[in-house]
Amino acid sequence: MTTQIVEPPRSAAAARSTTNWEKWGWIYMRASGVLLVVLIFGHLFVNMVAGEGVKQIDFAFVAGKWANPFWKVWDSLMLVLALIHGSNGMRTIVNDYVSKPGIRKTLLVAILAACVVLIVLGLLVCWTFDPCPAGAAAADLPSFCPAQ
Ligand code: HEM
Repeated sequence: MTTQIVEPPRSAAAARSTTNWEKWGWIYMRASGVLLVVLIFGHLFVNMVAGEGVKQIDFAFVAGKWANPFWKVWDSLMLVLALIHGSNGMRTIVNDYVSKPGIRKTLLVAILAACVVLIVLGLLVCWTFDPCPAGAAAADLPSFCPAQ
């Protein structure tokens, strides 16, 4: 005769003491979605509708925007929130559709790596950006750059 061992159910207290990451991921998708609507449509409006519209976008336009810390914070938030949102969404899709554990693990690691690399590179570009690079033609630079 074989004896079947039935694991005791986790107590409510034990269930509460562990973090429910899937729940927080679910909440993050909704919360970041709400913020992204404001950030993305604000970004599109300021860049492509306000002022002279899409033809105003060039190096000097970006340099002028990033002279203001407000737009650096705006763009950084958009970058970080959207990349984590998109990566977490891709994680969900991979978990839903990829049944082979090895391939699933590889794809999840690739998504995480791409997310981290793009956030680090994007933040570096945004926060170390030089609006007046030496040797550039004055016509390409924002008006506040000293004459070279
Ligand atoms: C306009 C702002 C956005 C809003 C309101 C929004 C909203 C959402 C919501 C609520 C979900 C969860 C859907 C679910 O669980 O069934 C989701 C999933 C997802 N989002 Fe976004 N999102 C936005 C922008 C973005 C951006 C910019 C990206 C890419 C970087 C992105 C990529 C994804 C992906 C890949 C999923 C997973 C789709 C799936 O589970 O089938 N989203 N989005």
